[in-house]
Amino acid sequence: MASLGVNIDHIANVRQARRTVEPDPVSYALLAELGGADGITVHLREDRRHIQDRDVELLRQTVRSRLNLEMAATAEMEAIALRIRPDMVTLVPEKRQEVTTEGGLDVASQRQALQAMVSRLQGAGIGVSLFVDADGPQLEACAATGARWVELHTGTYAEADWQAQPRELARLCEGTFLARSHGLRVNAGHGLTYQNVEPVAAIEGIEELNIGHTIVARALAVGLQQAVREMKALIQNPRRDPLFGDLIP
Ligand code: PXP
Repeated sequence: MASLGVNIDHIANVRQARRTVEPDPVSYALLAELGGADGITVHLREDRRHIQDRDVELLRQTVRSRLNLEMAATAEMEAIALRIRPDMVTLVPEKRQEVTTEGGLDVASQRQALQAMVSRLQGAGIGVSLFVDADGPQLEACAATGARWVELHTGTYAEADWQAQPRELARLCEGTFLARSHGLRVNAGHGLTYQNVEPVAAIEGIEELNIGHTIVARALAVGLQQAVREMKALIQNPRRDPLFGDLIP
């Protein structure tokens, strides 16, 4: 059964809309944990558009589950991670103009540089995950960096129409199988919602789902604690959709 990492970047988005002190993502992380979050994820972007350095520092002190720091593979971010020491770093591609992370990291084209960074982070006791598409050559390159985890990009599955979605789900199943056969542990995330999460949660071998936008959106109606509780229930007991049932190993 997959666990749930709750991405709280959007709490900081609301705060930064006014550059004020509320809502504070640090206190909302506690509510997410009370709702059953198995981990808290924040993305410290180079442009600091939502999460700030101060948030990561305080979350390191207050998060009682696991703190997963998403970041670009840059020297600045590596230094921050080595100082703050989150439980896990997830390396993601980052572009200034993008609204959210677009596509997975191209590990194959920067394998050597990533290998060195992974080694330094893991040497400091920080787990490293690489956010990649469920693609054979990329997964092979991930294994070659020495990283212990990958996070499979579920955005293409999430955005696919009903005709294409079974194919995208099958890619995630195959990617999970392939990653594990390379000795990698597998997380997944991006674009998952209350409507589309269940088939992914049912994939054998995925250990954690990282979910943000839909939970924060639901929290506006029912509060963050309840929104996390509802998502956790779907992940723990996913319905086997008749359309997808045969695809899921
Ligand atoms: N995983 C990664 C690597 C991400 O960049 C994001 C978005 O910040 C998520 C998961 C969560 O995506 P969403 O907010 O669409 O649930």
